[in-house]
Amino acid sequence: MIRAIIDTDPGIDDAIALLYALRQPDLEIAALTTVAGNIGLDVTTRNAGAIAAMAGVCVPVHPGAAAPLGREPRPETGIHGDDGLGGIAFPAPLAEPSSLHAVEAMHSLLTSAPEASIDVFCLAPLTNIALLLARYPQSAMRIRRIIAMGGALEEPGNMPSGAEFNFGHDPEALMQVIASDLDITLIPLDATRQFRADAAYIADLRAMGKAPATASADLIAAYFAQTAHQSKTAESRPLHDPCVPLFALHPELFRVTERQVTVEPDTGRLIPGDRLLRVAMGLDARGLRGELRRGLAV
Ligand code: BDR
Ligand code: CA
Repeated sequence: MIRAIIDTDPGIDDAIALLYALRQPDLEIAALTTVAGNIGLDVTTRNAGAIAAMAGVCVPVHPGAAAPLGREPRPETGIHGDDGLGGIAFPAPLAEPSSLHAVEAMHSLLTSAPEASIDVFCLAPLTNIALLLARYPQSAMRIRRIIAMGGALEEPGNMPSGAEFNFGHDPEALMQVIASDLDITLIPLDATRQFRADAAYIADLRAMGKAPATASADLIAAYFAQTAHQSKTAESRPLHDPCVPLFALHPELFRVTERQVTVEPDTGRLIPGDRLLRVAMGLDARGLRGELRRGLAV
């Protein structure tokens, strides 16, 4: 059994990642913590609760940082829509968000559990993790490992600066996390762009006849509609964030190498440096599509 906290900014692909993660019997999700990223904090927090309700799971949702460290938020409504979920209807959250801030919740969970028994899955800018490191460094070091969707090494990024969104949204947070001794595995765009959904996959998900799979099909269809102008990738779209829980449960479907990187301070781009990280640079897309489809129908 893997026990994890998921830090997220839902977000279309976050939503699919959460629907998958929350339904897997081998994953125990202790909490969802939210952050400003794809959309503002109030919306990412509401969405996290709504996604948990869709998954049929009661899990605490703890709102965290409403803005990056020292920068303005840069929501991506052009991709995720004004509601962050591409206009797809979700049920109302089963409970109000917790009044406990994400950083306090992480601290409390990490100190009340055995050391190195909790993973943190990062699907969003790393603001909350940097705040945890700053406020409770000893608690942060109790994290078993961080698995983060972020960065682009050989691939171009997806922001005008050349950075990947999660890392370019809050470079200061990324620098603090990279500077720590945390055990980090990155799943950058180099890998996630290989894990793609097309119209046939949307149809496959619908054919499963289960609410999380149907909602995921609707979310991917909305993602296509939102990004219809991106003609170069008209046939398929990448599923970034689902790679994180998929990696946790199925590392055999990823090709992981070690890379030495540092952070370009202005942009949050990863450039050659001296921090050794494990990085997933390749994956078995067919195997992962099958596993995601199965996992969304349990
Ligand atoms: C990442 O940025 C967000 O738009 C997605 O949710 C994902 O976490 C991809 O660069
Ligand atoms: Ca995300």
